[in-house]
Amino acid sequence: MIRIAHACLLPILLLSFLAGCGDKAAPDVETFLARHWADPLPPQGKPPAAFSPLEASLAPQACAQCHAAQHADWQGSLHSRTMGPGLRWQLMLMNQEQGNRCLRCHAPLAEQKALVALELGWPNAPKQPPPDFVPADLGHGGLVCAACHVRGHERFGPPPRGKVAAGGPHGGFTVSEAFTDSRFCAHCHQFPEDGPRLAGKLQEDTWAQWAASDYAQEGPGRQTCQSCHMPERRHLWRGIHDPEMTRRAIDVQLKLADLGDGRYEAVATVRNTGAGHHFPTYMVPKVELAFVRHDAGGAHELGRQLIGWQVDTGITREIADTRIPAGAMREFRQPFAALGTDWRVELVVRVLPGEHYERIFRDSLARADQLPAAAVPVLREALSNVEAARYELLRVEARSIAN
Ligand code: HEC
Ligand code: HEC
Ligand code: HEC
Ligand code: HEC
Ligand code: HEC
Repeated sequence: MIRIAHACLLPILLLSFLAGCGDKAAPDVETFLARHWADPLPPQGKPPAAFSPLEASLAPQACAQCHAAQHADWQGSLHSRTMGPGLRWQLMLMNQEQGNRCLRCHAPLAEQKALVALELGWPNAPKQPPPDFVPADLGHGGLVCAACHVRGHERFGPPPRGKVAAGGPHGGFTVSEAFTDSRFCAHCHQFPEDGPRLAGKLQEDTWAQWAASDYAQEGPGRQTCQSCHMPERRHLWRGIHDPEMTRRAIDVQLKLADLGDGRYEAVATVRNTGAGHHFPTYMVPKVELAFVRHDAGGAHELGRQLIGWQVDTGITREIADTRIPAGAMREFRQPFAALGTDWRVELVVRVLPGEHYERIFRDSLARADQLPAAAVPVLREALSNVEAARYELLRVEARSIAN
């Protein structure tokens, strides 16, 4: 059975004058999302009696029995790792109220929060063992399928693309256009207007950056969060951690200007041609531009510049904001000296997807004696993960001659 949870379509509307528009009022996208992403999410409750244990289970591995393709993609995505060591060592320093504020986005189901509370010995942890439909590892499961698709044991999803057989498992599903809408992602990728700011700018502002871009305009050029990050509805969510995705985001040119007397300037032009928001969208990642001169004496680094929103680790002070809005271009200039004509300049572009966290984690490790002993190895793992995520994106070359 397929139920419709969006505003009644016209033919249904005509019918609805005769029959009433179903038993549920048809909510629009905003109304649907306000309930779907209620904060906090209520527990699922008892599963319907007709459900088999497989249909009732909230485990992603249970969904995988019938939705293998979504599961394989999801498992390779960062959404399956939102409960990584970078979050877990911090949870160990928090009380339940502070911790739940993070879990709203990192492990939003009530059943997940209960398991995390049990693990960390928080006072309001449930006294009863978790019900059968909650696997013991759900708390560490990250942004599991059920977090986006299951409420009160009911499945919610986008309008189906093909024919769906009647009498399917888990009591069918309820359709909402909200799944195809960028606002679906905003619950976690956009702070509200009254959220934390620095230098007047919301610390998390991805949806608003997108809404201000050409991609949000109706027409053939329109691209949603889903169309770029879930092409063909695939559950990939590739972002700045993925070199191929990031290469698609920018166009980089390197030119040289001769200033006379052996003085030159290398000018890197970076255009955001493929990201539907600032490049990069948050303060966390940085993209490093290293200018290197090669000559008879070997390679010599002339200087480095950063693309990104640079702030101090306490998030109290903006150092610089060189992010590039969707469709916009920014120049980075590097003056230098060179002798003769036998040299060339190369631009090496490197990505540090967790640069802000690298600094926070290193500072915290320097004060490890003030942390609970159990948190220290988790913090070490977090730091080594975030350092290992660095990669070289591309190189561009400019010659000394012909300028
Ligand atoms: C026993 C098999 C089975 C299990 C287990 C199962 N599903 Fe399904 N699900 C189906 C079938 C069959 C459909 C009908 C549509 C189709 O064929 O894809 C469906 C439909 C859906 C839809 C609607 C797709 C759309 O087009 O909007 C969603 C969302 C969904 N399931 C999510 C889940 C999640 C999340 C889980 C695990 C918590 C799960 N399912 C477990 C078989 C299953
Ligand atoms: C509004 C939703 C939201 C809230 C609330 C939130 N986060 Fe996150 N968090 C995100 C998103 C989105 C990312 C991914 C950012 C990126 O990839 O640039 C992220 C990434 C992270 C990462 C880096 C990834 C990793 O697993 O190592 C850490 C660490 C983290 N958050 C910690 C926290 C902590 C601690 C809190 C609570 C104080 C918190 N977050 C609250 C949305 C949220
Ligand atoms: C971050 C939220 C999120 C998570 C986590 C998530 N999904 Fe989805 N899922 C979506 C959205 C959004 C769509 C619709 C995408 C679109 O319309 O472009 C979707 C679509 C689907 C569909 C319909 C696919 C189709 O081809 O019509 C199924 C089935 C589904 N998801 C199952 C799953 C399963 C199983 C998991 C876990 C392995 C999962 N989802 C995890 C958000 C999520
Ligand atoms: C319930 C909260 C939540 C929802 C809803 C959600 N995300 Fe996320 N998303 C996160 C968190 C938390 C992370 C960080 C994962 C990490 O690094 O540990 C993340 C990471 C990502 C990344 C990877 C970024 C990188 O650094 O490479 C992309 C891309 C992304 N999300 C896109 C989306 C899109 C598109 C949607 C809507 C279909 C969506 N997300 C919905 C919480 C959410
Ligand atoms: C036109 C395609 C496009 C659209 C639309 C788009 N993105 Fe992206 N997104 C990208 C590309 C390419 C990257 C990799 C480069 C980067 O990080 O900017 C990316 C990166 C990200 C990241 C990684 C973190 C970071 O700091 O950059 C997140 C999170 C993300 N997108 C979420 C979203 C959300 C949420 C939406 C909708 C509001 C959205 N994206 C819309 C293409 C797109």
